[in-house]
Amino acid sequence: MKLLRVTAEYAHGICVLKSYSRYLGSSCVDLTAPGDAALVVGSSRELVRRLGSQVEVRTGFITQEEEDALLRELEPGLKKKRYEFNHWDDAIHGYRETERVTWGTECQNILNRVRSGAFAAGSSLLGPVHVLDLDKTGYIKPHIDSVKFCGSTITGLSLLSDSVMRLVKGDTPSEWLDLLLPRRSLYILRDQARYDYTHEILKDEKSMFNGEKVPRQRRISVICRNLPG
Ligand code: OGA
Ligand code: MN
Repeated sequence: MKLLRVTAEYAHGICVLKSYSRYLGSSCVDLTAPGDAALVVGSSRELVRRLGSQVEVRTGFITQEEEDALLRELEPGLKKKRYEFNHWDDAIHGYRETERVTWGTECQNILNRVRSGAFAAGSSLLGPVHVLDLDKTGYIKPHIDSVKFCGSTITGLSLLSDSVMRLVKGDTPSEWLDLLLPRRSLYILRDQARYDYTHEILKDEKSMFNGEKVPRQRRISVICRNLPG
C-alpha cells in the first residue's frame, strides 16, 4: 500500500467559513445530500465553492449496525497485526492495514452502496478494498495517492472516530480545505481535489475543525478507488 502514496511537505494560512458547533448541534445532524457544506471549510469561500463539487462528505452514510457488521468482519484479521510506528519514510504513522476482496453479504451490500454512490456506472474499480486502522495516536501525513495505481476518485468510510482530513494545494500551500469526517460518514475526493491537493488525516493534538477540537480515537477507514483511465 506504501506504493499508493507520494508524501509532501506544506505550510498553510487560516480562514474558516462555517462552524463545527453546527455539526454538534442537532440542526446539523440532518444533512443536505449529496455533500454537507458545513463539513467543509477552507482558505477562501471561492475555493470552497470551486472545489465543492469534487469534495463530498456524507454524514450517517452507514448505521451503527452496519458499522458493527464491518468491524465484526475486519477486527479478527486486524488484531493479528501490530501497529507500525517506526517507519520514518512512511506516509502513515501508527497504523495497520489490510486489503479485502471477498466480503459477507451485509458488508458487500454496504460496499455496493459506497461504490454506486461514488463512481460512475461502468467505471473500472480497483478490486481489493483497502482497510486502514489508525491507532488513537496515528495519523496520515500529506500525500497524493499514486496516479500510476489509482484513478480520479477516492472514497472512504470512517469507522469508530470523527477525524479531520486536510487538503492542501501542491503548488500553492495557502490554498487549503478542511473536511470534518464524522464517524460513519463517507467522503469522496475527485479530480483536482485528488490530483492537485495533498490529503492527510490530522493527529489528535492537531485535530481541530473550524477552531474546535475534534478528539481522535482509533479510526478505521474502508477505502475504495478506481483504476487510472
Ligand atoms: C490513504 C489515505 C485516508 C483515510 O490510505 O492513502 O489517504 O481515510 N487514507 O484513511
Ligand atoms: Mn491517500
